Amino acid sequence: MRDITDIPKMVEDREAYKTLEAPFYTDADIFKLDLDVIFKKQWIFVAVEPELPEPGDCITVEVGDTSVLLLRGDDDEVRGFHNVCRHRGAKLIDEASTTIGNIVCRYHGWTYSEDGELILADHMGSEFDRTCHGLRSVHVRSIAGLLFICLAKDPPQDIEKFAEVMTPYLAPHDIANCKVAHVSDLVEEGNWKLAMENNRECYHCAGNHPQLTVPLSEFGFGFSPDEMDERRSEEANKYVEDIEENHARWEASGLPSAEQEFLSDISGFRTMRLPLMWEGESHTVDTKIASKKLLGDFTDPKLGGLSFWTSANSWHHLMSDHIVTFSVLPLSSDRTLVRTTWLVNKDAMEGEDYTLDNLTQVWKYTNQQDADLVRIAQLGVAQSGYQQGPYSKFTEPHVESFAAWYIARLADHFATSKPKATKA
Ligand code: FES
Ligand SMILES: [Fe+2]
Repeated sequence: MRDITDIPKMVEDREAYKTLEAPFYTDADIFKLDLDVIFKKQWIFVAVEPELPEPGDCITVEVGDTSVLLLRGDDDEVRGFHNVCRHRGAKLIDEASTTIGNIVCRYHGWTYSEDGELILADHMGSEFDRTCHGLRSVHVRSIAGLLFICLAKDPPQDIEKFAEVMTPYLAPHDIANCKVAHVSDLVEEGNWKLAMENNRECYHCAGNHPQLTVPLSEFGFGFSPDEMDERRSEEANKYVEDIEENHARWEASGLPSAEQEFLSDISGFRTMRLPLMWEGESHTVDTKIASKKLLGDFTDPKLGGLSFWTSANSWHHLMSDHIVTFSVLPLSSDRTLVRTTWLVNKDAMEGEDYTLDNLTQVWKYTNQQDADLVRIAQLGVAQSGYQQGPYSKFTEPHVESFAAWYIARLADHFATSKPKATKA
């Protein structure tokens, strides 16, 4: 039996293209380490700008044991703070979303400005220094309207490259001029890494996602022409040609489409615009657009689907008519919140331009199907009979990228947290 008190050794011994050892999915101490090393140090996707469209709009997000409030100020900037009063620690904003002027703690009325400065604290005496009791700020970065936070004092700097590469891909979808049509919070009965691993492959799609796979080619799932017989190999090569043709067309109309892969960066990510099959326009059951009002300046509904995956905790699909974003937030070693947000053009009218049922159907089914797969994966890794298994080089390279990224972050952590040698 593995001695899990030696987590650094488990990290050092990790074999590529193999599933992680069981304690990484089940152990409470490793879960706490994940919160410290991943969710308190990395850039984490938590929300979209249309969730707080106006000055004074405020939302809260719970990242592990940390509650964060995001507030749009009068200058239109979104700022983040720890959602904890500096008096006796009450949670400041208890609602998931609200609209406020200043940030007022309802316990004893301490009041903070939109910059987090303490501006009112009655009965504290003339000696009390308000300037030492402002809210603790949290780094916030909007990448074309997708909101990332970092709880670390010094966030990973490679977010600059991430922003530079991703902004031209995301910007044409004009997230700032979208509205939230629907949010679903689904608690999956599995470790957050199983939810991420499940997202990083489509090996399971043909057998489990009848709705999602309608507009997707099986060759988009990562199957390689090399492993097919001659006829199938021709179909796969045709698919590759199709992608090239579509990319040329989209890029000529100003839409970056080529794959970009930086999954091993500290702020790792990957993106690609993929065609939809059967003259498909969008990720819907009938493959047609779900919302009649297209996003941004788009006039052509057939723009495929721009997929965007981040190494830490998210994935996103952006079509011509709507956007779906997914944020993975850990709750415990065997429970994970997957928050899905659907966005449409802010001028689209429900009932006239779209129906919620048609807009959300594919991912409501797909999320539930994935939740069930994550549940059985967790049940399996927790059994005494579990042994580490192999990832497919053909269909699971991005699962390997995720596992390697995660292990590298733990390795960095152990390398920097070792006691420093002192000079004699
Ligand atoms: S705990 Fe917030 S004002 Fe007292
Ligand atoms: Fe899935």
